[in-house]
Amino acid sequence: MYTIPSPAHRFRRLRRTPALRNLVQEHTLGVGDLIWPVFIRDGDNVQEPIASMPGVDRLSIDNVVRAAEEAAALGIPAICLFPYTDPSVKTLTCEEAWNPDNLTNRAIRAIKAAVPDIAVMTDIALDPYNALGHDGFVVDGVILNDETVEALVKMALAQAESGADILGPSDMMDGRIGAIRVALEAAGHKDVAIMSYAAKYASAFYGPFRDAVGASGALVGDKKTYQMNPGNSDEALRLVERDLREGADMVMVKPGMPYLDICRRVKDAFGAPTFAYQVSGEYAMIKAAAQNGWIDGEKAMMESLLAFKRAGCDGILTYFAPAVARALRG
Ligand code: PBG
Repeated sequence: MYTIPSPAHRFRRLRRTPALRNLVQEHTLGVGDLIWPVFIRDGDNVQEPIASMPGVDRLSIDNVVRAAEEAAALGIPAICLFPYTDPSVKTLTCEEAWNPDNLTNRAIRAIKAAVPDIAVMTDIALDPYNALGHDGFVVDGVILNDETVEALVKMALAQAESGADILGPSDMMDGRIGAIRVALEAAGHKDVAIMSYAAKYASAFYGPFRDAVGASGALVGDKKTYQMNPGNSDEALRLVERDLREGADMVMVKPGMPYLDICRRVKDAFGAPTFAYQVSGEYAMIKAAAQNGWIDGEKAMMESLLAFKRAGCDGILTYFAPAVARALRG
């Protein structure tokens, strides 16, 4: 039988007006929560669209400096660089990864010179430089761990030397956080922060990113021997614990939206600065549905990002960062 709600259970009372809704809102999204991933490439005044990521372009260094100026003006605290590399620089030995004058290192110097206040984050993994598209060295079909860690340390030092504020090891080799931390300390880069891609899953949602950095054609096989199994959750806590012990300042869960449960568990267990990466495939899904008129793209963008805050994240890497910053300005 239907019963009229008791006066004590009328939750709709506080949803009645925008003022009341605002007053009792538990979580908010702010421009200070955003890290903007950008794709860089060689050339002058290049702005090259990425088909699978509508609204995202590969930018030459001059244009990425302009983008960083724009981001800083919008109040976005950090920008994260991902290089598109020409097949001609990809080798099996990946030495371009630690070349002090590679594209990423030149971009770091250019941004820090022009926009010193924005934090510059980098990616540490061999995939943009690897002829086989993997994050580590491949020998006889096996991804080598310890040899890769040595290369990642060289890569990290070159980025720190160029002025990076935050290093982002995304490779999922074991032991790389400790090795990088020790090397940074020894080289005098004691204040360079590390955001570990601690719980990074072997995901189908990275597809458009691999197009963006030119790795789709290169990748031989998959990344399941080093990235996490999407069926695991306890393992994420063990990885985060290890990376924090080894010297990570911040940890990341990746992808984002399908892994909000992991964000929550990580935040509850450690209370460390916790970030999520709303990856290329998540961005592409929202954009594609919006372009078809199937969802309201701007509302879906804002809702998806607020969800990360609710799940316990301190911030989000998102390709939507400038659009969000503009929307938040009203
Ligand atoms: C590479 C790297 C990847 C992403 C960030 N760093 C792809 C991968 O692991 O294959 C994915 C980001 C995205 O999809 O937006 N180490």
